[in-house]
Amino acid sequence: MKYIIANWKIKLAPVEEIRLAKKIIELAVDQGKVKVSINPSFLSLWSIAQILENTPFYVGAQNCFWVDNGAYTGEISPEHLKSVGCHYVLIGHSERRSNLGESSTMINKKIRCAIDNGLVPILCVGENDDERRSGSKDHIIRREIEMALQNVNIVGTQKLLIAYEPIWAIGTGQPATVQESVYMHKVIRQTLVDLLPDETAKNNAFILYGGSVDSANVSDFLRAESVDGVLVGTASVDYKQFAKILEIANNI
Ligand code: 13P
Repeated sequence: MKYIIANWKIKLAPVEEIRLAKKIIELAVDQGKVKVSINPSFLSLWSIAQILENTPFYVGAQNCFWVDNGAYTGEISPEHLKSVGCHYVLIGHSERRSNLGESSTMINKKIRCAIDNGLVPILCVGENDDERRSGSKDHIIRREIEMALQNVNIVGTQKLLIAYEPIWAIGTGQPATVQESVYMHKVIRQTLVDLLPDETAKNNAFILYGGSVDSANVSDFLRAESVDGVLVGTASVDYKQFAKILEIANNI
């Protein structure tokens, strides 16, 4: 099974997001091979959840808070996300870590609350260009995962997705090579084996690649055995690119 997660960020206006969602539901999804989540902006999430209902497409959020209800002005409750049909939630995206100062403690609390509500967290990790050049990327990624997963219990059929998104590859048109992503996926898998019970690390955790994925390179990533899917930004708001990505994923 390969995951295709579309992170629309706030690249489109809500009316454009709704228009795109209505076109996307006409696309074929081989549900035996691919799981697809559309993660729109919050203003259109509920409407899009309704549009995607009874289709093979899932809805995801781009963030959540770590408490379900209460006096938390402006926050997004994981319980409310679940109640409107949301399935996945991105947590710890590098754009939030850098623009909003999202800390590893916050990320850890968000993951725990998302799991408590039966959402599937997609934990985003990745090194910046300096960390890459200084050779510290393995350490950085390992540390991000260790901190994010403190006291996280994954039981039963609960899933955890980890997206390796090198910061230097996001929105630059310069993706990591498949070899680089496969190498880092092995580091991540080993980290998970060290942190989680063996069966959980093997059966409940999936590792994606993100950063300048498009219709021209997606097949190389999806063909790599250790890559369980892709997290797509820019190309996911371009209908033609996204349709092609899905077609390729259906045929891997
Ligand atoms: P791009 O596909 O635009 O590089 O964005 C990747 C990303 O940040 C997905 O979360």
